[in-house]
Amino acid sequence: MSTPPPLAMVAELTHRCPLQCPYCSNPLDLVKVAREQPTAFWQNLITEAAALGVLQIHLSGGEPCARRDLTALVAHACAQGLYANLITSAVLLDEAKLCELARAGLAHVQISFQGATAPTADRIGHYPKAHETKLAVARLVPALGMSLTINAVMHRQNLDELPEMIALAEALGADRLEIAHVQYHGWALRNRAALMPTRDALRIADDTVAEWREKLRGRVAIDYVIPDYYADRPKTCMGGWGQKSFVVSPDGRVLPCHAAETIPGLKFQRSGEVPLRAIWEDGPAFTAFRGISWMREPCASCAFREEDFGGCRCQALAIAGDARATDPACHLAPGHGLMAQLAQAEAASGNDGFTYRRYAP
Ligand code: SF4
Ligand code: FES
Repeated sequence: MSTPPPLAMVAELTHRCPLQCPYCSNPLDLVKVAREQPTAFWQNLITEAAALGVLQIHLSGGEPCARRDLTALVAHACAQGLYANLITSAVLLDEAKLCELARAGLAHVQISFQGATAPTADRIGHYPKAHETKLAVARLVPALGMSLTINAVMHRQNLDELPEMIALAEALGADRLEIAHVQYHGWALRNRAALMPTRDALRIADDTVAEWREKLRGRVAIDYVIPDYYADRPKTCMGGWGQKSFVVSPDGRVLPCHAAETIPGLKFQRSGEVPLRAIWEDGPAFTAFRGISWMREPCASCAFREEDFGGCRCQALAIAGDARATDPACHLAPGHGLMAQLAQAEAASGNDGFTYRRYAP
């Protein structure tokens, strides 16, 4: 059977970022500015992606606004018929730049918030006045005719601000609010003890989200991602490995997910050296965990195997030490009980200090 085309491409244009979030999802080994691909590379890749059947481009990073050619890339993506979404911290944006991007065809802006109040948010992002700038930029997005998603990354040190966070998203005119508890990959693993919520705090958050979903029905759509450590079933990570989307690193490597490089033995190909269609359909990294043929028990004979595809490969590696194992977020995985015990112990650790993520050029 031929491989269906991907829906979306996540273009990590750069790993440069002025913020220093303790849960940064970028790889531990950041791509330095000198190894970033030039404008022509991204334009060729976008053309290839559109020809492959990609419908959406998510311009991401690091902070994609650190790229001087961002407007040119948005214009090129839109000329190829792609729906362009900018995933940004907003701290490098102002009205003039946002107007320029809107004129180039940008359809959607997703702004991350580190908290609902300036003291919390600026402490977590470790960047002065970030919150103030985000508020100003977020207000402009709907006014310029673009859709706005607020991405609120939640954890033990800002979960008490959840009701304010939801009210803020509504007040800013967001179409969508993504409330995502920290996922513990890469740098976030180093700060797990400082970020992990207690189970009780998580229950309160679940109720808050349910209540506000009712209140805001038809006005703000709320997506909610709970921490895997307290889950019973795993997430369908990336919508299934090599099934819906792919990620391109700043140096042009095409990856099945943003953390795939943590998996030893996978061979990643570079756009420009191998055609994108060949990488997507037959590349060794994409075929390694696509579908269900790679699975072992309990996944191999499970009724949910084509729903969640065994969960997250990177988490299976990080927690169970084996990328082929069942994601320990699953209650049927051998290490599942340990995961919740570990979460509870770390949530009660009282360790609130962060190891911040710093980009060094
Ligand atoms: Fe999903 Fe595997 Fe758990 Fe079944 S056993 S629910 S396929 S992770
Ligand atoms: Fe890599 Fe989930 S982050 S498969």
